[in-house]
Amino acid sequence: MLDVQKIRKDFPILNRTVNGKPLIYFDNAATSQTPQQVIDVIVDYYSNYNANIHRGVHSLSQEATDAYEQARLKIQKHFNAKHAHEIIYTAGTTHSINLVANGFSSLLKKGDEIIVSALEHHSNIVPWQMLCERTGAVLKVIPMNEDGELVMSAYDALLNENTKLVFVNHISNALGTINPIEYIIEKAHAVGAAVLVDGAQSCPHLKPDVQALDVDFYVCSAHKICGPTGVGMLYGKEAWLNKLPPYQGGGEMIAEVTFEKTTYADLPHKFEAGTPNIAGGIAFGAALDYMNGIGFENIATYENELLAYGTEQLLKIEGLKIYGTAKEKTSVISFNVANIHPYDIGTILDKMGIAVRTGHHCAQPIMDFYKIPGTIRASFMFYNTKEEIDAFIIALKKAIMMLS
Ligand code: ALA
Repeated sequence: MLDVQKIRKDFPILNRTVNGKPLIYFDNAATSQTPQQVIDVIVDYYSNYNANIHRGVHSLSQEATDAYEQARLKIQKHFNAKHAHEIIYTAGTTHSINLVANGFSSLLKKGDEIIVSALEHHSNIVPWQMLCERTGAVLKVIPMNEDGELVMSAYDALLNENTKLVFVNHISNALGTINPIEYIIEKAHAVGAAVLVDGAQSCPHLKPDVQALDVDFYVCSAHKICGPTGVGMLYGKEAWLNKLPPYQGGGEMIAEVTFEKTTYADLPHKFEAGTPNIAGGIAFGAALDYMNGIGFENIATYENELLAYGTEQLLKIEGLKIYGTAKEKTSVISFNVANIHPYDIGTILDKMGIAVRTGHHCAQPIMDFYKIPGTIRASFMFYNTKEEIDAFIIALKKAIMMLS
């Protein structure tokens, strides 16, 4: 069981007002809020042991290095990676995807095929289009249906011996659909293709086991999981990470440098050039500790209740249409009301202290599918409440009245 009132006390931001009203934060799919426990870890780092890592013999550098590497072990354990060196620190999901896409430039040839899904965020479309331009590979798309689910029979038909890579998000940021990644991975492997799963939206809600999934690459950002912005991770199977060339050159990623030739460091350092976001990495570990302390099963059960309650209340409003009605979905509700522009509703909700996202959510192909410019998106986390949903519904009805 989850004690929401106790949990809310961990989040200082939930006490503030916006435009004179108590903040109701329903934009969690864009970024989650940060508990005091994680804020304290960042303050402690800068107050007590701020130093560069892997370099100094002095005590501060060693303390910082230990904390940073301990956090990597926490990330490894959380995702059940076989080795700590299969966890690469990055600046976030987008950086992780670009690292892999760039690496595949030297492994693909003209006529090879890459599959993405119709439900992708732009960050899981554009890097692959750029990869196709560089290599002559062809991009194929798994279509979606009206409910916002991927059509698996169409996926089966796309797979063939030319398929080299499949990229799919675990959960759609725009609609909340949970994709059948187990099936997608199994089928891709049957034709010898590698799979990258974008976990940006899944990691706040569930706990992926990368070995059980047998996934080749799994990526996410700390800021969606109660951690700071500017840090994330790439999990890659050791064999794949050894095969990919480094993404960036610089300090810390080398074994030896001469002007004639440079040899690269072993994993994970080969992919970690330059001074990283040290406080961010340590705080990423603390955020996972915090979430695991609450428990992912408790989180999922409670957020499913919020999703069911929010959906039921919203559907009582005349003219309101929800986009994304998949059987398997998480606590994201995308909707529009009659012909009112989402931006207008979002602006009025903000005046009443309510934060939602409006627009295409960096997923324009989904909006094109539904022939709409965008939606209003309310996304809940475990620190939200049914009372907040009630206040949101009242505010939404007021906004509709003002705009009709
Ligand atoms: N990808 C984030 C979102 O869906 C920013 O809002």
